[in-house]
Amino acid sequence: MAEKAWGGVFDEATDRRVEQFTESVSFDRRLYAHDIRGSIAHAQMLCKVGLLSQGECQQIEQGLTDIQREIEEDRFQFRIELEDIHMHIERALIERIGDVGRKLHTGRSRNDQVSTDMRLWVRDAVDQIDGALRDLQTAFVGRCDADFDVILPGYTHMQRAQPVLAPHYWLAYCEKYERDRQRLADCRRRVNVLSLGAAALAGTSLPIDREDVARRLEFESVARNSLDVSSDRDFVVEFAFVLALIAEHLSTWAEEWILWSTTEFNFLRPPQTFCTGSSIMPQKVNPDVLELIRGKCARVLGNLNALLVLIKGLPLAYNRDLQEDKQPLFDSYDTVLASLQLAAPLVAGAELQRQAIADRLDRGYLDATTFMEYLIGRGIPQRTAHSLVGQLVNKAMKQGVRLADLPLDDYRQADASLDETVYDVLGAERAVAAMKSYGSTAPDQVRRQIEDWKERLSVNRQ
Ligand code: ARG
Repeated sequence: MAEKAWGGVFDEATDRRVEQFTESVSFDRRLYAHDIRGSIAHAQMLCKVGLLSQGECQQIEQGLTDIQREIEEDRFQFRIELEDIHMHIERALIERIGDVGRKLHTGRSRNDQVSTDMRLWVRDAVDQIDGALRDLQTAFVGRCDADFDVILPGYTHMQRAQPVLAPHYWLAYCEKYERDRQRLADCRRRVNVLSLGAAALAGTSLPIDREDVARRLEFESVARNSLDVSSDRDFVVEFAFVLALIAEHLSTWAEEWILWSTTEFNFLRPPQTFCTGSSIMPQKVNPDVLELIRGKCARVLGNLNALLVLIKGLPLAYNRDLQEDKQPLFDSYDTVLASLQLAAPLVAGAELQRQAIADRLDRGYLDATTFMEYLIGRGIPQRTAHSLVGQLVNKAMKQGVRLADLPLDDYRQADASLDETVYDVLGAERAVAAMKSYGSTAPDQVRRQIEDWKERLSVNRQ
């Protein structure tokens, strides 16, 4: 049992099956750089308060730096008897520098250590996801000028509703990702709190300086309650939730573009480099990347659920259950990051089927609502105007024609005050041009939004 850092009290060696069951190093090794960063800051603080000498601190720093290089060069040996990444690094340090290494864990527990490592890791992960979201927004905004003259049917209930400019669509997606970025920033504030110094659950009787460690690790504040620190994985759940909502946004967009790339819609083609074929049907070009972005969302939602269930019913403070927070979180992060990194070039490279879209824009009476608003502008009450237009659409549908194809007589019959100016407001293009309200698909509104987005994205690129 001399092997185990906690072996003193034991008479018998751990069952091999237990070692295999309880190990986490197979997945928490990815925390190695954060663990080493935390340990160096901790050692420097120990030195500052006199718990380590200058020389000891230097030996520890050097040893940890060498271990980091060993891990990065794939020369480090992992073995499950040492449980987790924290024990591995500490053991390697002791093997290198002897007894001085045995001082590193002064005033610290693995409970506050693992919490600190996770916070450092999540903080970096939040920043990575934020950058990938920004790149995706940039891809959407990057299309807006070239697609400005394309009018798409807008849908509600998956039925043709009103016409909208293609860039209005693109910026709608940008808004969703902007909220995700705000949620990330908010989550980051709660992540960016120092856990170290809470020790196992009660703090420590040694004269540590937590403010000093917080400064070294660039944490904004120090966690106030050691019991809370030892038990808290709220920040993990929060990040997993933000990732889940991003995955939802990706999934709904993917679903929409899968539909749009069908023969039935034929609105766009994803870049061929982002499609794959069929082993039996020679003609197939399948949007697999979009389908997998949609499909992988399921796992990200499952991970969030696993984390929520994991912390349910855990009494204060640390419980080993908490070790199970890592795989779901890492998986959600990897999955969402990969999806975002593929979504951006896919958006940039997709080809709008302009002719096919324009050819069918007359279908579905996309201009009916703005025509009703024209009638309102002529003093007809909304409910009356709604009903009049409904009757005219009914008539046009029965004849299989557009509103603009009905003779003036039909309009006069509906309301005697109408004249040939009705034709000035019919058609999808005119319906878009007639828009006025803030946030609408009115061309000048959309133009202004595009400029705002360009500005916003270039500012937060710095
Ligand atoms: N590997 C553990 C985890 O991920 C580290 C903390 C272990 N603490 C303990 N008291 N056994 O949660």
